[in-house]
Amino acid sequence: NENIYILGIESSCDDTSAAILCNDKILSNVVADQKIHAEYGGVVPELASRAHQQNIVPVVHQAIEKAGISKKQLSAIAFTRGPGLMGSLLVGTSFAKSLAFGLNIPLIDVNHMQAHILAHFISEENHKKLPFPFLAMTISGGHTQIVKVSNYFEMEVLGETIDDAVGEAYDKSGKVLGLGYPAGPEIDKLAQLGNPKAFRFTKPKVDGLNFSFSGLKTAILYFVQRETKANPNFVKDNLNDICASIQYTIIGILMDKLKLAVKQTGIKHIAIGGGVSANSGIRKALEDAEHKFGWTTYIPKFEYTTDNAAMIAIVGYLKYLEKDFSDFDVMATARLKI
Ligand code: KG4
Ligand code: ZN
Repeated sequence: NENIYILGIESSCDDTSAAILCNDKILSNVVADQKIHAEYGGVVPELASRAHQQNIVPVVHQAIEKAGISKKQLSAIAFTRGPGLMGSLLVGTSFAKSLAFGLNIPLIDVNHMQAHILAHFISEENHKKLPFPFLAMTISGGHTQIVKVSNYFEMEVLGETIDDAVGEAYDKSGKVLGLGYPAGPEIDKLAQLGNPKAFRFTKPKVDGLNFSFSGLKTAILYFVQRETKANPNFVKDNLNDICASIQYTIIGILMDKLKLAVKQTGIKHIAIGGGVSANSGIRKALEDAEHKFGWTTYIPKFEYTTDNAAMIAIVGYLKYLEKDFSDFDVMATARLKI
């Protein structure tokens, strides 16, 4: 059998990324993140599109070079169709279309949220193989979902956030604490130095497998305002403990919902994906759940947690095997369901 080479392109938010896969193995995975947004405390869509426009050619070029192949060997091009920021998606979509058109090879559109889940099928050494069906919790800056995965492309959303995503809860809490953007990694780092039970934040009451994080964000804001009135240095004096307590609350919310999902479905194979799956707290909680609850848990390699094109390329490969190609009039879509 001939090798299949897929170029994956990801541009849904603020990372421009290109990756090359040979079958299900990574040859290269290049990510250019956009520092420009940090000074605005969040992603500025217009600036993101412009940065993608600047980055896309060098990033793709570098991915091909690192992979040590020539453009002419590519079997197909996979790109993120959505969900994401429209202006950002358009850059990757147009570029993928043009290159596939020029090379006269198939074009494959990919759902970003499916890709966060299917990243688990990238071949790695000592890699636990995921059996169907499994439960996937996608936790990122834009999404918080629990998905039942019956097959590669048979996915059902069992629950999702009714307001903010969990990554947003991290980033917005970080803003209140005066941390930079994105604050998730910073809170995670400081949390490991603090006491998780120093402060208590009430968990939201949301039915079933849905999530809510906007109340927590407000609770943290009021808490910090109140305490700062009494002690202007409150945040500075207690930063590690505050971060540890926020993290403890958020991980508790995620684990409560996972436990309920396992109870409702009887499925004990649990995978996580998305930027927040880089978090040390959720990783530890899932490792513990293996002994505590008899689950088998699947935690992605760090480089496949935040946005990357390797996860887009693996979906491209799986679709290529099915000859599931896109028409060239396929459109980028800001809102795309799993
Ligand atoms: O998947 P991703 O790169 O982009 C989206 O599709 O949203 O996720 C980015 C999100 C940000 O909110 C960031 O703060 C969060 O993931 N994040 C973390 C950690 N690393 C990234 N949150 C908590 N702990 C981390 N270690
Ligand atoms: Zn993402």
